[in-house]
Amino acid sequence: MPKLIVVTREGQESTVEGDAGLSVMEVIRDAGFDELLALCGGCCSCATCHIHVDPAFADKLPPMSDDENDLLDSSDHRDANSRLSCQIPFSDALDGLKVTIAAED
Ligand code: FES
Repeated sequence: MPKLIVVTREGQESTVEGDAGLSVMEVIRDAGFDELLALCGGCCSCATCHIHVDPAFADKLPPMSDDENDLLDSSDHRDANSRLSCQIPFSDALDGLKVTIAAED
């Protein structure tokens, strides 16, 4: 199974495994990181699954939809590496991806 490296808001780094086909949000949530609220369950309507993605993987990520872009604009903590984790399908191509859970808005 591909590995995902998750950095919490406190800076603690853990490596978890996730099934390809889940979203990155589901992999993080299923691994027990409850600080990633993901309130809408992956419908791209809450922005509480906001993460910062390792720039080394930027070209492996799916393009951002207008909805995702608009939602990220509502966050005070958006930066160039911001994504909504529910909008990124996890896959073998993302093995070793490092993501940091964004500060809470
Ligand atoms: S879980 Fe709500 S936008 Fe991702």
